[in-house]
Amino acid sequence: MGKPDVLIIGPMHPHVMETLDATYTVHRYWQAEDKAAFIAERAGRIRAIATGGHGGVPRELIASLPELEVIANFGVGYDSVDVAAASEHGVKVTNTPNVLNDEVADMGIALLLATIRRIPLYDRYVREGKWPVHGEPEHTMTLRNRTLGIIGLGRIGKTIARRAEAFDVPVVYHGRTEQKDVTYRFYSDLVAMARDVDILLAICPGGEATHGIVNAPVLEALGPDGIFINISRGSVVDEPALVAALQQGRIGAAGLDVFANEPHVPAELIAMDNVVLQPHMGSATHHTRKAMAQLVIDNLAHHFAGKPLLTPVN
Ligand code: NAP
Ligand code: 8YV
Repeated sequence: MGKPDVLIIGPMHPHVMETLDATYTVHRYWQAEDKAAFIAERAGRIRAIATGGHGGVPRELIASLPELEVIANFGVGYDSVDVAAASEHGVKVTNTPNVLNDEVADMGIALLLATIRRIPLYDRYVREGKWPVHGEPEHTMTLRNRTLGIIGLGRIGKTIARRAEAFDVPVVYHGRTEQKDVTYRFYSDLVAMARDVDILLAICPGGEATHGIVNAPVLEALGPDGIFINISRGSVVDEPALVAALQQGRIGAAGLDVFANEPHVPAELIAMDNVVLQPHMGSATHHTRKAMAQLVIDNLAHHFAGKPLLTPVN
């Protein structure tokens, strides 16, 4: 039997690309000018898809590949893959959980501190030569006496909570279900949690169920001294409502790693000094991206060796 055929949706980590090239017959979807013809020519052969978080695997693509067996997603969040359609067609989906918990949690805390202590703003202050001219700049907000409300106390959320505890920051959380094995207070109502906390940090999955859950009433409840940190998905927040809340001082500041229409960031957010921005870098260190790449490779290898998948989603 020849090498299995694997469709790669968009450019992936070099370790994934090199290993898949060496192991499988690879088809580069993003390079095809006529996508429909490209798929039609290969539909009878493609048994696997590898995709980065930003590529996406819609229902139509899954339905057009009758021999498809598995979709390996680079990223723990798989909201860009239509998992329901995959399950309906008997296609397995895998993701890359756990290997990125520490890295993404670090980013959550880094964004929080950078936002509270205005680190990018005052970095510019030094570089632009303002210090000798204007002296010490305005003092900042503080992490002292603040409560952190985590939206999504999962693998990464719990890793963030442990870091927050080391900073003596009390933690509470919101999710669909109360977790009996944690001591943090649970809020079933997000508005109620936003009212009680000083910092709201989103690290839940994207997708329909969480679309826009951080909306105008939630931001209103967070209040003028409140800080919003988003390292989940841009879809989780109503972005125009966030822009308005920041512009009108209805929340105090925001630290954002993810956006509704990446890589495009609203000009209004870029213009505000009380907003710290990152280009979706939560897991993006050499160390962790290599570990995620290996998990994509290993899931595909397990599948084609007839072994149980390492990190199945469905
Ligand atoms: P996880 O272990 O599955 O945790 C997800 C948490 O979200 C769970 O506690 C879950 O609790 C909660 N949740 C699920 N649906 C919800 C809903 N509809 N409303 C409120 N809470 C909900 O996932 P993880 O590994 O921690 O990853 C979480 C997410 O982080 C990923 O899906 C991804 O979108 C994002 N992420 C971003 C980056 C980045 O680079 N910025 C990197 C990695 C991950 P319940 O089941 O009780 O609701
Ligand atoms: C990646 C992520 O940036 O794991 C996730 O869900 O958002 C990040 O780790 C992304 O998936 C890779 O493109």
